[in-house]
Amino acid sequence: MVCAPRVYLDATAREDFGRRPLVGTHTLRESGLFSDAALIELLDRFPRQYLYALSMGSDVTRPEENRLALHDGVSGAELLRAVTNGRLWLNITRVDRADRRYRLLIDEIYAQLAAQLPGFRPIGTQGTLLISSPRALVYYHADGPASVLWHIRGRKRIWVYPALDTGYAAREAVEDICAGARHEYLPFDPTYDEGAISYELEAGQWTAWAQNAPHRVTNGDSVNVSLSTEYFTRGSRRRARVYAANRFLRVRLGLRNLSVVEHGPAAWLKVATHGLARRAGLAPVHMKRHEATLRVAPDAPGGVVALGDAGNAGKVHA
Ligand SMILES: [Fe+2]
Repeated sequence: MVCAPRVYLDATAREDFGRRPLVGTHTLRESGLFSDAALIELLDRFPRQYLYALSMGSDVTRPEENRLALHDGVSGAELLRAVTNGRLWLNITRVDRADRRYRLLIDEIYAQLAAQLPGFRPIGTQGTLLISSPRALVYYHADGPASVLWHIRGRKRIWVYPALDTGYAAREAVEDICAGARHEYLPFDPTYDEGAISYELEAGQWTAWAQNAPHRVTNGDSVNVSLSTEYFTRGSRRRARVYAANRFLRVRLGLRNLSVVEHGPAAWLKVATHGLARRAGLAPVHMKRHEATLRVAPDAPGGVVALGDAGNAGKVHA
């Protein structure tokens, strides 16, 4: 690593971490891992089965317009050109597993967080690198694990909504997300914004929020590069297990409105029952995957063409 990154958070952010949305600053860009040249080099050798290119519409209430695009045979430079000129997200999932430099970077930033946050001792961390087009958007969704978003290049606006509030996300939906049984997208009503906390995130800032809090993002007018990291603590794992167990008992036994209390004998019994059922093969989870309907085409409008039109991609702007 060229330069060890620094992570900064003030007294309010230290108080809010894990509970409420907050913003801090960082120096990740100085690592040299996020320049165009470094990104192209990464994209050229990154295992492509873990890289997802997604196009999107412009209506924040229509996540079904999010479409998966194939990118085999598209070089790193072409991928970056497609993002720069089009309307795409590149999700470079588990970049820490594919490249040791990102693993070390994530280890370092979490070591700095742990040093500044009394009692914060993550037992696992992982990261996904996000490269996205000017004005791209991420639809309203909630993630199962707790997240920290490190914004590195460009500018974006993020809206964060109350966590585990059934006025913003049905409990069953959060249970499904924790169980890995559905995509993270949630139905969105623009009136939810009245209850949101929103930040205009600049390069060099990071943000975090309470585990499972719904959120959405809209990019500014330039390419955005962010590192999305997830961390796991005993508490976050317990939360996910209780919600996944509730889903199992709802789907398999028809039990509804189960307690979401995360401690005590009832929670333990539910989680243990689910664990036994899983090990016995009685709790299969079927995740519906996106089907690719597009192909990345760096010079096409939007940076994509419909599958089947890929052979004509070069003619689009000829
Ligand atoms: Fe997210």
